[in-house]
Amino acid sequence: MDNRPTWTSRYTFIVTAIGSAVGLGNIWRFPYVMGQNGGAIFLAVYILLISTICFIPLINELYVGKLTKKECIGAYESINPKFKFLGALNPITGIIIASFYFIVGGWIINYISKSCISYQIQDYESYFSELIQTPVYSCVLTLIFLFICIFVVARGIKNGIEKVNKILMPLLALILLFLVIVSLNLPNSEKGLEYMFKPDFSKLNFQMVLAALGQAFFTLSIGMGALLTYGSYIKEDKSLVKSVYTIIISDTAFAILAGIMIFPAVFSFNLEPNSGAGLVFVTLPRIFSQIPCGNIVSLLFFILLFCAAITSGISIIEGPCATLIERCKISRVKACTILFFVIALLAIPATLSFGTLSNIKILDKSIFDFLDFITSNLMLPLNALFLCLISGWYLKIKSHNIISNKFVMFLFDIGLKFVVPIALLCLIIMGLK
Ligand code: PFF
Repeated sequence: MDNRPTWTSRYTFIVTAIGSAVGLGNIWRFPYVMGQNGGAIFLAVYILLISTICFIPLINELYVGKLTKKECIGAYESINPKFKFLGALNPITGIIIASFYFIVGGWIINYISKSCISYQIQDYESYFSELIQTPVYSCVLTLIFLFICIFVVARGIKNGIEKVNKILMPLLALILLFLVIVSLNLPNSEKGLEYMFKPDFSKLNFQMVLAALGQAFFTLSIGMGALLTYGSYIKEDKSLVKSVYTIIISDTAFAILAGIMIFPAVFSFNLEPNSGAGLVFVTLPRIFSQIPCGNIVSLLFFILLFCAAITSGISIIEGPCATLIERCKISRVKACTILFFVIALLAIPATLSFGTLSNIKILDKSIFDFLDFITSNLMLPLNALFLCLISGWYLKIKSHNIISNKFVMFLFDIGLKFVVPIALLCLIIMGLK
């Protein structure tokens, strides 16, 4: 296709790829998964995995996009027409992820508006559960967040996705640094740092290693074609490996900084670091209400979360959007309109599953938990697994010289063919238990 968009520069590609990676996974999910899995030792395993095993599928996905210059289905098809169906699983995964990721985006919008007004909440736990159970309001919030993401994607690569990332990513970094300083200045903050950086080896176990691996895949946006699509817009990048390391290092830095922002605050107020998904929506607002200028800190924190969620949200939509544009030969605006309704159709029941539809269970899970479960535990790792095997065994990526050092390329090939597929298989099997 001649009129396929391309990135304006290598810089904008890297910033948007980092924007995709740095999301709720870093600021909302990473701290609580780390909190539930023993703190520092989880961090050590996570860093080890993200800089070795996860490097392989990340570079693979970007490279397949860059090589084929097609959206997901076309990219798989051009390797072998038999793989078309596997390619189609990527945009489907994206649509399902969008339907629950954007619900959390909606909650963030609520907390931003709340922080602008006042922070007179009596019981943070019941406030949060009331919020997610209020049917019309929570659906409206989800739809607002969805609309914002769709709007950016509809404006195109240059005027939408690149522009938003170029503004929001530096803003995100600045706010994060400021909040880290605030948190480190709270009394007893060193206890939080100790929790983050002093490993307790007794907490090391297989389950935790898999949790770290799952988190690493999710945060790097591997396995749903978002990166493949972003890769397909690369004009020329002689050093894809360098770009990938920049993405990984930045993503990890954001996650660690998010931890440094959250744990010292949590320990400073003698709260539990392992309170799960509510850490950001219950524990932190409680802390904000007790510190000087808490409203401003709260507002900044939720703007930070919002920026992170938007830049990832648009990357989730761009994959299915590119597929619709290129397969159905329709305009970007039309593709985005269709996606808005399709995602809304899934997102509304998922939003209602906290209240009105809470009695509907699939595999003993609420609709929200079910969608999260099948994508995070099954579809994302499965898509990544297929693409590694396809590249390793069919595309014969070994002969493509992605990495100039022959020995590293040999290791990369072994990783693609054996190590990563086995790791992913373990993740899938344990995740389905
Ligand atoms: N990486 C994003 C995060 O950490 O929140 C989530 C995500 C975005 C997953 C895009 C998958 C994806 F394709």
